[in-house]
Order: sequence, then C-alpha cells, then structure tokens
Amino acid sequence: MAKRTLLTGALDDYATANWLRDSDLKKRLREDTRRLPAFNMQISADQGQFMALMARAIGAKRAIEIGVFTGYSALAVAEALPADGKLIACDVSDEWTSIGKPYWREAGLDHKIDLRIGPALDTLDALLREGEAGKFDMAFIDADKTNYDGYYERCLKLLRTGGLMMFDNVLWGGRIVDPANRTDDTEALRALNAKLHNDARIDLALVPLGDGITLALKR
Ligand SMILES: C[S@@+](CC[C@H](N)C(=O)[O-])C[C@H]1O[C@@H](n2cnc3c(N)ncnc32)[C@H](O)[C@@H]1O
Repeated sequence: MAKRTLLTGALDDYATANWLRDSDLKKRLREDTRRLPAFNMQISADQGQFMALMARAIGAKRAIEIGVFTGYSALAVAEALPADGKLIACDVSDEWTSIGKPYWREAGLDHKIDLRIGPALDTLDALLREGEAGKFDMAFIDADKTNYDGYYERCLKLLRTGGLMMFDNVLWGGRIVDPANRTDDTEALRALNAKLHNDARIDLALVPLGDGITLALKR
C-alpha cells in the first residue's frame, strides 16, 4: 500500500484553513453539542462537508440517516439536497434530536428533515413494507454498531442502483486492529468490514477522514 500523508499538527491546521467551508450556524450547533458528555459522537465539520459534496455529486434527492444525535450530519446533508429533497432521519433519542431541531428551523431546512424516533431497524422495515425499496439515493449509517449489518442489508434494498451508502467509525479509533479488543461493537465492525470487502453487490472505498468512512455504492 502506498504511503499516506497523515493529517496532524501544522498540516492539519493547513488543511482546515484551506479546505473547510463552515457556517456560523453549523459552528454554533457544534458548540452547543460540546456541553454534552457524549459530544464526541458528533461527526467532524470536514466530514459533514464531505458528505454534502457526495450528496450533490450523486444528485441525491431522497436520503436516509441512521443516528442523528444533535442533528449536525442531518443539517449538513439536508443543505445539499434540492428544495424538494427529503432526509428520513432515524434516532431513538427525543432529547438529543430536540437540540438540533431549532438549528434545522433556523437554516430553513426543517421541511426537508423527517425525523423518525424509534429503533432504526423498525423504521427501515416500515419503509420496505410501504414499498420504498429502490427509491432512495443515499444512506448514512452512524448509530449502534451491532446493528450496522442489519442497517446495511435494509439500506441496500432501499437504495436505487448507483445509490451511495456511507458508514461512520469503520476504523473505530484504531481498536479495529487491536486483537485484545473483542467487544460486541468492535466485532460487529470487523465482521461488516470483512463482509463488504468481498460483497459483489457494491463498489467499495475507504475514506480515512474522521474515524474512517466506508463508501458502498450499490451496483
Ligand atoms: C454517533 S451518534 C450520531 C451522530 C450524528 N450523525 C451527528 O452528526 O452528530 C449515534 C446516534 O445513534 C442513536 N441510536 C443508537 N441506537 C439506535 C437505534 N437502535 N436506532 C436508532 N438510533 C439509534 C443514538 O441515540 C445517537 O444519537
């Protein structure tokens, strides 16, 4: 494998200074989230920017998000959807998602975000029952790791051919290669990473941004 340039120290500052396009609203949502003990669950600003670009690149109009937390990734993706676009945003927490709602409203994006509170597997199964298979352009998976495979199989059905799935935390802070780490979350991520490597239903890439993002493009 070719050598990688690691983004640390001054090089990381340079990348942020020259590539990050941020808004006051998004900064405020990040700051608002920082007061929570679980603030670290939020995706990074550069990841949000990347996901928004991917949404535009594939002309996404209908998207799914699994794992909303305080609404940062939903805000970033909804911004990139057309005026009549829709993001079905799944989470189990009323408390956390309520923090994001005023920001979605302020951005004029709340009409694009359809928040579904409840276990995401149930929400996805309901969409499939309602005949929504093949009708989505993009799916972002960023919730409980032990259900990632269940989210994958369901989202693969919900996406159109050429639709894009993105999984967050696939490098798991490096724990993915620590043989002593055998938690359910770690094992679930390892199993999914190995499964996708040989899955002929998708084209595959790793984006080593944040905690690692898998891109799976439905064939
Ligand atoms: C890593 S956070 C998501 C971060 C978010 N994408 C962002 O940009 O800030 C994971 C979220 O998944 C939610 N979650 C956990 N288990 C879930 C489940 N079974 N169904 C739906 N959401 C779940 C949690 O409530 C939490 O808000």
